[in-house]
Amino acid sequence: MTSPFVAPKAVPSPAEDPHALIADRLTGESLPAPFYVSQDFFDLDLDEIFSKSWLFVATEAEIPDPGDYVTITFGTRSVIVARDDDGRVRAHHNVCRHRGARLLTEPSGSTGTIVCTYHSWTYGMDGRLEFADAQAPGFDKSCYSLRSVHVRTIAGLVFICLADEPPSDIDEVAAIIEPYLAPHRLAEAKVAKQTDLVEDGNWKLVMENNRECYHCGGHPELLNVFFPTWGYSSTDAIPTRLAPVFERYRRATAEQIEIWDHRGLPYPRIEQLDTRPTGFHIERDALDLAGESFTLDGSAASRRRLTDIPEARLGRLSMHLQPNMWLHVTSDHALLFSVIPVAADKTLVRTTWLVHRDADEGVDYDLDHLTGMWETTNQQDADLVALAHQGISSPAYVPGPYGPSEFQVEAFINWYVTMLRCRLGIPVAPDVADAATA
Ligand code: FES
Ligand SMILES: [Fe+2]
Repeated sequence: MTSPFVAPKAVPSPAEDPHALIADRLTGESLPAPFYVSQDFFDLDLDEIFSKSWLFVATEAEIPDPGDYVTITFGTRSVIVARDDDGRVRAHHNVCRHRGARLLTEPSGSTGTIVCTYHSWTYGMDGRLEFADAQAPGFDKSCYSLRSVHVRTIAGLVFICLADEPPSDIDEVAAIIEPYLAPHRLAEAKVAKQTDLVEDGNWKLVMENNRECYHCGGHPELLNVFFPTWGYSSTDAIPTRLAPVFERYRRATAEQIEIWDHRGLPYPRIEQLDTRPTGFHIERDALDLAGESFTLDGSAASRRRLTDIPEARLGRLSMHLQPNMWLHVTSDHALLFSVIPVAADKTLVRTTWLVHRDADEGVDYDLDHLTGMWETTNQQDADLVALAHQGISSPAYVPGPYGPSEFQVEAFINWYVTMLRCRLGIPVAPDVADAATA
């Protein structure tokens, strides 16, 4: 007889079943609420997206010397990214090979060896076990190296993948994006500032918010230099109120192209956001006013530029990468964003400002001036993400339509749903397939 004290196992209704929701997702509109608010989807996102995709986790500038490390933690996973004694970037699971204790607990630091707090097993930065006290005769240290994680550096950016077999298209993507990034010498830069902002919303809402400028009216400071026409692919779609701005954007772009051509800087837009596992977008774009940097008048914030290219006016290099990063590079600094899920309704957004290694704070740049515009913008975005999450949490929420300027939001969600379907072996419902080909 069934005990009256044991609740029957809950069976998800079709409206809540993750597999059914993934199979039935309709293109062109936001996701049903469970994708953003349920623990099931949060767990699925960590397992199928964050544990199987290439993730941007750091810049080489954060670990310039042997022994430097950062830790990246999401859900129950934690990874050490470190520079070893030979100067190579390594990544290891942050789990002791003795009885499993977490090894490094700080988000970043510098150490000669990795020493477990529990029984002092000691590892080199390359992951090899160097010391294990009082073991039985015949104990073979070489069998107990830290479990390694796939790591890849591209022009100073560090990516990891926790899967046994990471998406193999990273080589193709690196070959495309490296020529855009390399001229800015990010591997030789230094960190001017890094901020961690925990936003009150699901990580997908953070990414969606990044992938459109439909909301850019909420960024009055940024709009001094950022053209709000971004995302409009044809002049027809541009709202009348933005027509004068678009004219200015076209003039600035033409002037900028002359400089990019002269300096051999690649600039065409390449968009492969939802057509490959390592989806990306890269382009060079003009900035308004002086066109040099993210400051109120568009002039450079650091006198010491990242490279020897004589022009300060280079606009911005922009890259979007699925599932968790975007960046802007101007002539004087680079700005990198990484997104790490914390809970279904909490997301860490890490922002890193890089400047030339020899740029001196207070001499070549004022830190508040360098970072102010994006610190303000980040908080405005965090407020918008919180509003979105609150509204979606209401039973009254139903998915709404993406407009033409939100095509990158659709591309992000399409990539996300496609990855889930592929990795979970979920076929697409016939009416969804019909809608997709209509
Ligand atoms: S668990 Fe790390 S040394 Fe024992
Ligand atoms: Fe924004």
